[in-house]
Amino acid sequence: MEGTEKKILFSAVQPSGAVTIGNYIGAIRNFVGLQEDYNCFYAVADLHAITVKQEAAVLRKNTLSLMALFIACGIDPAKSILFVQSHVPAHCELTWVLNTITYPGELSRMTQFKDKSAKHAENVNMGLMDYPVLMASDILLYQTALVPVGADQKQHLELSRDLAMRFNNRYGQTFEVPEPYILKGNGARIMSLADPSRKMSKSDENPNAFITMTDDRDTIIRKCKRAVTDSGNEVRCSEDKPGVSNLIAIYNAFTGNTNEQTEREFEGKGYGDFKLAVGEAVADALAPIQSEQARLLKDKAYLDSVMKEGAGKAFRAARRTLSKVYRKVGFYSGE
Ligand code: TYM
Repeated sequence: MEGTEKKILFSAVQPSGAVTIGNYIGAIRNFVGLQEDYNCFYAVADLHAITVKQEAAVLRKNTLSLMALFIACGIDPAKSILFVQSHVPAHCELTWVLNTITYPGELSRMTQFKDKSAKHAENVNMGLMDYPVLMASDILLYQTALVPVGADQKQHLELSRDLAMRFNNRYGQTFEVPEPYILKGNGARIMSLADPSRKMSKSDENPNAFITMTDDRDTIIRKCKRAVTDSGNEVRCSEDKPGVSNLIAIYNAFTGNTNEQTEREFEGKGYGDFKLAVGEAVADALAPIQSEQARLLKDKAYLDSVMKEGAGKAFRAARRTLSKVYRKVGFYSGE
C-alpha cells in the first residue's frame, strides 16, 4: 500500500457505548467503499471517549467490539490500517503543539462542547473542550486529504482545516489541508426515532430513540414500529415530515433505494406497513454483520494482531509528520 499514489483518508469512531445505525449510515458504511480509492486509516478513538466518564472494563470491551465491528462491516485489514488511537502516542503529542495555536474562544463555541457540557454538567473537563484539537491531530498527523464523517462533525472538520492552515502559515508548509466527506441528503444526519428534531445518539437516555448495531431482530422491529411519525399517513420525504423522512433515509441506506423509489413502493400504504418494512430491512442488513462480529470477538488473538499491526503502521506514518512539526517549532533533537 505504501508508495502508491493514492490519497490518504482518516476517520475514527468512539468506543463510548453501543454503536448506532446513525454511526453506521453516516460514517462506517462509507468507510468500506472508500478503501478502494484511498489509503485509509481507521481508528477506535478511545482518547476521545474518556472526555465523558467511562468505566475502565467497559471501555476495554467496547474497544475490542468496535474493532470487530469495523472488520465485520467490511473494512479489510489487508487494505486499510485499523488501530486504536491510544496505541499511537503521536496523537497526544501533536495535540499539545496544536493547542498552542488554538484560541479558547474557538473551542468554547463548538456546538458539541456546548451540548456535552450541558449534558455532563458535573464533568465539564478540559478534555471535553480540547476534543476538537485532538481530532485535528488525528487527521493532520497522516497528511489526510479526506475525512468521511456525519454532518454533526462538520464544525470540527472546519477547525482541523483552520489549524492546518494556521500552522502552515506560521511555520511553513507542513500539513495537508483535509476535506470533509459528508453524505448528501438525510443519511448524513440520522435522527432520533423518539424525537426527529434531535440527532440519533448512542448516549440518548431513551433506548427507543436509537437502534444499535447489536440490537436483535425483534428489538429493531419494535423500535421502528414505535418511531415517532408525523400527522397524515403518506410515506413522503419532506421537511414537514421529519419523522417519516428519517425513516425513509434509514430504509434507503439499507435497501439502496432513492427517495422516489421508496415513495413509490409505499404509495397507498400507511405508516404501519412502512415502519414494519423499515424494521425488517434494518434487521436483514444487520444480521450478517452481527454474526461476523460475534465470530470475530471469539478470536481475540486475531483482533489483537490486527490492532498491533495497524498501530505499528500508524506509528511510523504519524512519526514522520510529528518529527517535521517538532523541527519546525524548534525542538532540539541533537546533532
Ligand atoms: P462518534 O463516535 O461520535 O461518531 C462516529 C461517526 O458517526 C457519525 N454519526 C452520525 N452520522 C449520521 N447520523 C447520526 N445520527 C450520527 N451520529 C454520529 C459521526 O459524524 C462520526 O463520523 N469525533 C468523532 C470521532 C473522531 C474522528 C476523528 C472522526 C475522533 N477523531 C478524526 C474523524 C476524524 C465522532 O463523532 O465520533
